[in-house]
Amino acid sequence: MTHIPFVVAENAQEIAQTVAAEIAALIRERNAEGRSTVLGLATGNTPILLYRELVRLHREEGLDFSRVITFNLDEYYPMQPDSSQSYHYFMHHHLFDHVNVPASQIHIPDGSLPREAIADFCAAYEQKIQQAGGLDFQLLGIGENGHIGFNEPGSARDSRTRLVRLDATTRRNAAGDFGGEDLVPREAISMGVATILEARRIVLIATGSKKATIMQKVLHSAASSDIPATFLQLHENATIYVDTAAHASLV
Ligand code: GLP
Repeated sequence: MTHIPFVVAENAQEIAQTVAAEIAALIRERNAEGRSTVLGLATGNTPILLYRELVRLHREEGLDFSRVITFNLDEYYPMQPDSSQSYHYFMHHHLFDHVNVPASQIHIPDGSLPREAIADFCAAYEQKIQQAGGLDFQLLGIGENGHIGFNEPGSARDSRTRLVRLDATTRRNAAGDFGGEDLVPREAISMGVATILEARRIVLIATGSKKATIMQKVLHSAASSDIPATFLQLHENATIYVDTAAHASLV
C-alpha cells in the first residue's frame, strides 16, 4: 500500500483557498507561456467554496481564464443540460457564468444523448482530452462509498469515460436534490479511473464528518475497485485535503 500525501486543514474555507491558489498559480504560469491550462472539474457540495474563490480571484485579482480548457468528470443520464439538477447547470451557476472561460473550451458529458450515441460520445470525450494535451489538474470530491466522479465500487483501474449504473448509496444521497430517491437517474456518464489517473496532478477534497468513515478506509486500504478512491495510491502527484471533521476518525 502506497501512502497518499494528505493535508489536514482547520476548515473547508482554508482548503478552498489553498487549492484555488494552486490552480491560479498553474493558470498564471501557463498564461505567461502562452499555453492553455487543462482542468478536470468536479461537482457536488465540496468544490463550491473553491469555485467561489476562483471567481473572486478572477474578479478581484484579474485571474484570466481565457486559455483554460475544462473537462467535467460526469453527468447524470438521462439529464437535460438546462435542468437545474444537471451538472451543466451546476457548473455554469457556480463557475462558468462568472469567469471568462470561452464556451467552446468547456466540456461536460452530455446526458441528453440517445442511448445509441453514448459510446461514440465517450470515445470522443477521451480524444478531446488527449487533443487538449491531457489533464494538467484534476479536482475530485469523494462519495460516501468511495466513488470518484461516478466511478462506483467495482469500477476497474483501466476504466474509461462510459455509461455507468449508480449505486444505491449514491442515489440515496442525491435524493434531496431530486425530490425523492425514485426520481434520481439510475445511470450517469463518467470519466473512468484510467482517465483520472492520467492527469498530471490530482487533488481530492473531503470535508465534513460524513466523509470521515470513508476517508479512514481510503487511507488504510490497498488500492482496489472496492473503493475507487484508493486508486489514487497509484498516482505520483496526488494530494488529499481533509478538514478536521473528515479527519476525525483517522488514526
Ligand atoms: C457526486 C459527484 C462526485 C462527488 C460526490 C460527492 O456523486 N458525481 O463527483 O464527489 O457527489 O458530493 P459532495 O461533495 O456533495 O459530498
